[in-house]
Amino acid sequence: LIIKFIHIFLFPIYLLAEVDIASSLVNKENDNSFITKYEYGKMLYENPRGISCKQCHGNNAQGKKIVKFVHKVKDKIYNCEVKTKDLRDVKLIPFLDKLNPEKKLKKVKFLKEEVCEKLIYGNTMPKYFLTNDELDSLYYYITNVGLHNE
Ligand code: HEC
Repeated sequence: LIIKFIHIFLFPIYLLAEVDIASSLVNKENDNSFITKYEYGKMLYENPRGISCKQCHGNNAQGKKIVKFVHKVKDKIYNCEVKTKDLRDVKLIPFLDKLNPEKKLKKVKFLKEEVCEKLIYGNTMPKYFLTNDELDSLYYYITNVGLHNE
């Protein structure tokens, strides 16, 4: 009688435990399929093995003010500001160029009064070493951020 009792009462628990184990195995095996391209891109945007893009481009890639500094040349004072533009409408080629660590900076001629621009140019964004797959997801995220319901 005792054996029968245990059996009846524990049976549903066995069943639950088994379902649980089975589903956790499935989850482990297919971990990547549970994350969409958008989510993967977002993860890279926030945590790209290096300084987060978010810190300089804002939570939603909409651009932001990064820092202000004062630059003095002789008796002239320049109030400079480093800021980023909206990234969400960036085209693929400029995006890839900017994230290609081998790409040489284009030479730009600055006007005499463009002191801040000259100082800032090419001196702000760090280099990243991302794979093509990562760049693909990152680009997808940046150009779709805000269009998704999160
Ligand atoms: C330390 C600050 C900083 C960080 C971190 C940073 N950026 Fe930038 N980024 C800039 C600045 C400054 C510019 C130049 C101003 C601009 O184009 O908005 C720029 C320009 C760009 C451009 C070119 C925009 C255009 O219209 O040509 C892209 C694309 C870009 N960043 C993507 C990224 C991505 C993706 C990450 C993360 C993997 C990142 N940035 C991290 C500061 C940063």
